[in-house]
Amino acid sequence: MHAAMKNTVTKQQLFLALLGEVRTIAEHTQDDTNEKLLVICKLLVDAVPYYDWVGFYCVDSSKNELVLGPFACEPTEHKRIPFGKGVCGQAAERRETVISQDVTKELNYLACSPQVKAEIVVPILKRGEFVGVLDIDSHARSAFTAEDKKFLEQVCALVSELF
Ligand code: SME
Repeated sequence: MHAAMKNTVTKQQLFLALLGEVRTIAEHTQDDTNEKLLVICKLLVDAVPYYDWVGFYCVDSSKNELVLGPFACEPTEHKRIPFGKGVCGQAAERRETVISQDVTKELNYLACSPQVKAEIVVPILKRGEFVGVLDIDSHARSAFTAEDKKFLEQVCALVSELF
C-alpha cells in the first residue's frame, strides 16, 4: 500500500480528488457512455491500491438479472447474475450496498478469482429507478471501510445518468 494511504486524511483527499475526476468524466457530453464508464473503472483501479477489479453491471428488468457492462482488469465468467445470487445479486435484491469483508465465508457468493478476499457492491439508482451496480473486488481481506462505502455511493450517484 502507498505510504500516504495509511493516513485517513490523505485517503479522504484522494477520494475527494477522484470524485472531481469522476464528475468531469460523467459530465463530458461528447463521449460514448460505455466509454465513460470504462474510463471511470480504470481510474478507480489505478488510483486506489486495494481496488483490484472494478466493473459495472446493468439491470435487465425483463429477466431480473444483472448484465456485465464496462469493467477493468480480468474478464469474469459472471456475465449475467440473477437478482439474489452472489454479492451482486444480493445488492440488487436489497437495493443497498453490500460489503463482504471475507468472501471465503460467504455462502451466497460467485467466485471470480481465488485471489479475491473482499468485495463491495453498490446499487445505482437513476431518479429512484434501480439501473445497475458498481462491483469492486479486493485482494485484501477487510479492505472496505465506511469511507469507501460513502465514496462509492457518491460515485454511483454521479454516474447514474449514464445508465
Ligand atoms: N463475486 C460476485 C460476482 C461478480 S465478480 O466479482 C466480477 C458476486 O458474488 O456476485
